[in-house]
Amino acid sequence: MNTDTHVSNRWSNRYSYILAATGAAVGLGNLWKFPYIMGENGGGAFVFVYLLCIFFIGIPVLMAEAVIGKRGRSTPANAAAHVATESGRSSHWSIIGTMGVTAGFLILSFYAVIAGWAVAYVFFAGSGEFSAAAADPATNAETIGALFTNLITSAPQLLLWSSLTIAAAVFVISKGVKDGLENAITYLMPALLLLLLGIMFYSAVVGDFASAFNFMFHIDFSQLTIEGVLVALGHAFFTLSLAMGIMMIYGAYLPKDVSIVKTSIMIAIADTIVALIAGLAIYPIVFANGLEPSAGPGLLFQTIPIAFGSMPFGDFVGTLFFVMVVFAAFTSVIALLESPTAYLVERQNMSRTKGAVVAGAAVWVLCLCSIYSFAGAEWTKLSFGMGGDIFEFLDYITANILLPLGGLLISIFAGWVIKPEILKEEFNLSDQHFSIVLVLLRYVAPLGILFVFANSIGLF
Ligand code: TRP
Repeated sequence: MNTDTHVSNRWSNRYSYILAATGAAVGLGNLWKFPYIMGENGGGAFVFVYLLCIFFIGIPVLMAEAVIGKRGRSTPANAAAHVATESGRSSHWSIIGTMGVTAGFLILSFYAVIAGWAVAYVFFAGSGEFSAAAADPATNAETIGALFTNLITSAPQLLLWSSLTIAAAVFVISKGVKDGLENAITYLMPALLLLLLGIMFYSAVVGDFASAFNFMFHIDFSQLTIEGVLVALGHAFFTLSLAMGIMMIYGAYLPKDVSIVKTSIMIAIADTIVALIAGLAIYPIVFANGLEPSAGPGLLFQTIPIAFGSMPFGDFVGTLFFVMVVFAAFTSVIALLESPTAYLVERQNMSRTKGAVVAGAAVWVLCLCSIYSFAGAEWTKLSFGMGGDIFEFLDYITANILLPLGGLLISIFAGWVIKPEILKEEFNLSDQHFSIVLVLLRYVAPLGILFVFANSIGLF
C-alpha cells in the first residue's frame, strides 16, 4: 500500500484546533440527544455515569486518535498504517482509519437531514408558528406535533433543507483548513456559546430552574439501569465524535508543539459543559410547563416548541434557540465532510474544491436514502435483517457496530500496538501519569467498550 503521502495543512495555533475539535464534538448529540437520554435514564445518576465514561474512556480514546493523526500526518487510514509500521507492525491497521471515514460518511448522510430539520425550525419559529399553535391551548400539542410530522415526511422540504446544509458545508470545506474551517468556526463557536448562555438565563427566569438543577445533579442510583450505563458509554463516544476518523484528521493538522493531552482534556470538558448547559436550558422549560422529561427524541423538536409558543418573547427566543442548534449541527457537518474531502485530495490528487464538491455530491446522493426513508417511500424498506428502512439501517450499523468496534480497535492499537516509547514521547507525560493513561488505554477502555458492544449486538 502506498503510505508515503502526507497532509500539509496545519491549524494556525492550538486554539483553532481546540475550537474546531470542540465544534465537531458539540452538535446534535449535545443539544438534542443528551437532554432526552438523560430524561429517559433517570437524570443525576445517568449524568454521573456519563461523566465517568467521558473521563476514563472518552478522553483516552480521543488522545489516542489525535496521536495517530499527528504522528502519521496523513488521512486516517494512511496515518494508522504509518504509525503501525513505525512500531514494526502490519500496515493493515489502516483498517481503523478506513472504518472511521466510512462511518463518518454514512453518518453524515443522515446527520445532514436532521441538521436540515433544525434549519426548517428556524423558519417555523421565526414566522410565528409556535405562538400561533399556542393560541389554542387545547390543540397546541397536536398542532406542533403535526408541524413536525409534516416536515419529516415531506421529501421536497427535507431535500431543500438538507441540500442547503450540504452546499454550505461544501463551500466552507472547499476554502481550505485555515480560510474555510478555521474561519467559520472562529465565529460560529463563540456565537453558539453566547446563544446557549442567553437561553439558559432566559429559561432560568421564565422556567423552573431549581427542579431542573435537582433533576440533573441529584444522584439517585435507584433510578439507574444497566441499560442506562450502556447508553451513557455509547453517548460518550458519539458526543466526542470518536471512532470516525475526525479526531485523527484534525490531529494530523496539529502544529508540532501542541500538547495532545491538555487539548484533549479541554475539548472533552468543553463538550461536556455544553451538554450540561443544554440540559439546564431545556429542563427548566420542561418542568415549568409540566412537560414530560422522558419525552424521548421529540423533546427538542416537539416538546420545546410547545413551551416557546406560550412564553414571553417565545417566537424570538425560539428562533435564536434553533439558530443555535443549526450552528452546533453545522460545525459537525463540516467536520464530517472534512475527512472524505481530505482523502480525495490526498489519494486522488484532487484540488480541495473538487474534493469537497465530489464528497458533498456523494453524501447528497446517500442523503436521498434517509430522506425517502422518513417520507416512507417503498424502495427504502428493507426486507432483510430486522426489516426497517435504509435510514434505520444506516443508524444501526454506524452507532451500534462501526462506532464501538472502531473505538475498541483504536484503544487496542494505541495501548498494545504502538510502541509505548512513541506514545510516551507524543503524550509528553511524567512516568506516573503515563502509566495511568496506559492502563486506561490497555484495559479500562477496551473492556468497557467490549461490554457495550456485546450488549448492542445482543450477546447479553
Ligand atoms: N459529536 C457530534 C454530536 O455531538 C456527533 C458526531 C459523531 C460527529 N461523530 C461525529 C460530528 C464526527 C462530527 C464528526 O452531535
